[in-house]
Amino acid sequence: MIGKSALRTLVNNGAKIGVRFGGARFKHTLPELAYGYDELEPVLSKKLMMLHHDKHHRAYVTNLNNSIEQMKTLLDSSAALTGKQEGVSGDKNKLESLRNEILANDKKLAELQRIVGFNAGGHINHSLMWDTIKPTKNGGGDEGNEISASLSKQISRDFGGIDNLKKLLVGKSMGLMGSGWGWLVFDYNNKSLGVMTTANQDTVGAAGNYEALFGIDAWEHAYYVDYNNVKLDFYQNIWKIVNWKKISETYEKAMSK
Ligand SMILES: [Fe+2]
Repeated sequence: MIGKSALRTLVNNGAKIGVRFGGARFKHTLPELAYGYDELEPVLSKKLMMLHHDKHHRAYVTNLNNSIEQMKTLLDSSAALTGKQEGVSGDKNKLESLRNEILANDKKLAELQRIVGFNAGGHINHSLMWDTIKPTKNGGGDEGNEISASLSKQISRDFGGIDNLKKLLVGKSMGLMGSGWGWLVFDYNNKSLGVMTTANQDTVGAAGNYEALFGIDAWEHAYYVDYNNVKLDFYQNIWKIVNWKKISETYEKAMSK
């Protein structure tokens, strides 16, 4: 739970679940992709990409904006009810009634807070994923040329090489029960790389002092259209479109903080 003033900040400034979204009265929008829906084939089909980006991700954004609007309305209502309390301080029945209305608002706010957190996580996680994959023809999956020297060195140090990193992340993702994400992360506490999973749409930033470098979407909607129930094939094929250049940039920034 967070307090009402923190809640108001969240609503006015946009969701801050792991990643900061700036701007007062900010409306979250579906990010445009840097590539066409058909350009990740044959790893991900045009049909799957259209569904994933334009339907699933769009739904997170729409639900996030709607939930934030509902929170604003409830917070305004509670502020007005609190103001009314001062005017009826001598009338016990009216005071009780106003208090009950405020309590009812608080209950609704707690539920909306959970919904905002879920949809903000979905928006953050998917936005990061679109940035960290790209068509093979544009360098996607090109480990030889696109991983920076320092990231390559740290992968060797922390995992014993890129193949081990892949095995670890695929293994972690396969072991995830239910929906969630598999992640390659930078751990700010000891300046090391690691792999981890988060459930549902929980973010890496909410899990601890981590920076998400690359995420594998382990929800069925991320692979079922193309891979049916064989998610291992999806986890193994995804490496052909990984944007190592972007991952290296995020890593360098995290290292320099
Ligand atoms: Fe997804």
